[in-house]
Amino acid sequence: MSQKINRISELEKKYLNQALNDNFSMSTNGEWLAKFETSVKNVTQTKYAISFSNCTAALHSSLLALNLKKGAEVLVPSLTYGATAMVVLQAGFIPVFVDIDKNTLLLDEVDARDKINKKTGAVIVVSIFGLEFKYSNFFRDIRKKGIKIIEDNAEFSISKFNKLKKECDIACFSFQASKHLTSGHGGVAITNNKKIADNLRSISALGFKFNSNSSKINVNKDKMSVKSRHSLIGYNYRLADPLAAILLGQIERGEILTNCRIEAGNSFQKILNNYDFVTTQEIPKNSIHTFWTFPIIFKSIKLLNNFKYEIAKSTIKKPYAPWAVTYDEPLFKKYKRDTNKNSEYINSRMLLMPTGFWDKKILKKEINELQKILDKL
Ligand SMILES: Cc1ncc(COP(=O)(O)O)c(C=O)c1O
Repeated sequence: MSQKINRISELEKKYLNQALNDNFSMSTNGEWLAKFETSVKNVTQTKYAISFSNCTAALHSSLLALNLKKGAEVLVPSLTYGATAMVVLQAGFIPVFVDIDKNTLLLDEVDARDKINKKTGAVIVVSIFGLEFKYSNFFRDIRKKGIKIIEDNAEFSISKFNKLKKECDIACFSFQASKHLTSGHGGVAITNNKKIADNLRSISALGFKFNSNSSKINVNKDKMSVKSRHSLIGYNYRLADPLAAILLGQIERGEILTNCRIEAGNSFQKILNNYDFVTTQEIPKNSIHTFWTFPIIFKSIKLLNNFKYEIAKSTIKKPYAPWAVTYDEPLFKKYKRDTNKNSEYINSRMLLMPTGFWDKKILKKEINELQKILDKL
């Protein structure tokens, strides 16, 4: 790989220009969406891909597309971005917070097992910080009971996605500005089920009748006669064509863009292995980590604070604190059923290192500086 890459290259600019040259004409509108969705289907080896204005919209629509029972409970991990639980409320369901595994930071299967009951309609699993979610027999069993599974892959790179697993009904991805591939904002949902795909497409566009394999609204060929079109409650969640054009270029360059973050993640891992006062996210055997960010967990809060103090004085790219444990957010307080010990422990001791280094030299410099800071602790 070369020393430096452009996050947005001439390719995306070329596609964007071509899309703009279409003049937002209604006859061509949707063509870039179609190209983008085809490339998503190819990359993920999935039958249906439906684009959305963002991943939150895709997740919200996914919950609606599954026709869960009224008042259904939806299991979500308690350490994730607020959108994962927010969409449960948006869709009129009840979020049930599940603890995370202390090592992988993914949804904890043992706690999930305890929280499944007759009311459980779905589980949203999150590939947190870019670590893929692997299914165990537990998930195969709950699917047999009719429980649906949605993957919130907002933080996982679609370019490394290895086929939709049979345990999963819908997987959603984000193209928001901080993500591996981006058009500023954007999202996509993938599924192998035609009925679900039809629902997703309709929900994304005000409940219009749609062919799930086409992003073009095709209500009536005879434009001049009035026809009914709204078949169910939908939202206006469509992605704009120029953004799809940018995303087509990003997907074509997805390996390069993602490998950059993986290289940064591996560099962090290599030096952090030398310090026994920190732990990092465990990557199970044969799992892929796309390192949207790199979490460092300090063994004590005192060490975390010392690290923050040293980092603040340095020129290093500043790490982020994680989001609050979701049930501690004012909106979600009333849904807290128990204390998720692992989420609380990790949340109070973790910092997230940025991995978006497009220039290897800068990455190297930052890693050296980080090492010096760790040596001081
Ligand atoms: C885990 C998770 N879920 C959902 C989202 C929402 O994605 P978007 O910003 O595309 O709506 C994010 C965004 O960062 C996220 O990290």
